[in-house]
Amino acid sequence: MSHVHVSSHPLVKHKLTKLRDKETNPKKFRELIREIAILLAYEATLDLKLEPAVVTTPMGKAAGSHLQEKIGLVPILRSGLGMVEGIWEMMPSAEVWHIGLYRDEDTLQPVEYYNKLPVIPTVQVCLVLDPMLATGGSAVATVDILKHWGANRIKFVGILAAPEGVEALTTAHPDIPIHLATVDERLNDVGYIVPGLGDAGDRQFGTG
Ligand code: URA
Repeated sequence: MSHVHVSSHPLVKHKLTKLRDKETNPKKFRELIREIAILLAYEATLDLKLEPAVVTTPMGKAAGSHLQEKIGLVPILRSGLGMVEGIWEMMPSAEVWHIGLYRDEDTLQPVEYYNKLPVIPTVQVCLVLDPMLATGGSAVATVDILKHWGANRIKFVGILAAPEGVEALTTAHPDIPIHLATVDERLNDVGYIVPGLGDAGDRQFGTG
């Protein structure tokens, strides 16, 4: 589990507790998803490559750095959408590529319904965004798609995971770092994380 990073940041823990609360309304829920995503993305991007740059200040020249790599944010529809905006504000030159997968409720397997990735990869680092790493099926399928596309470096940024999801993703893609706010107890028999927070899509979009 060496590639699994569970945040120990107090702000993440505080916001996660509010996020789980069944009394948290969709507006507040979206704010919390956005804020936790920023904090986790901060931790997930600590190793981004830099190139030296010189900047002219009003007082003279200063040595600085620019990001060397183009970043792609890859939200898994639809729950991953809420993680995009905040991270995008931190890295406005990132590209956003949506992957649409739904979970077949009988087989619990992911079914792809949206993918508009261009033929040639346009980014060097992909952050796959999905708040819930449950069975791991969607995450594994998305990383499969991105590797097939030719993405060089891929990281998964989620919020809550079940041990089963972590196991599935690390088994299928042991090279992929996984950044999370927590790993919960288990999955229930319909593939929900326990204690989790319920349905992250419904709670963001008010459709529950
Ligand atoms: N997706 C969710 O929204 N919640 C879960 O607990 C598992 C998958």
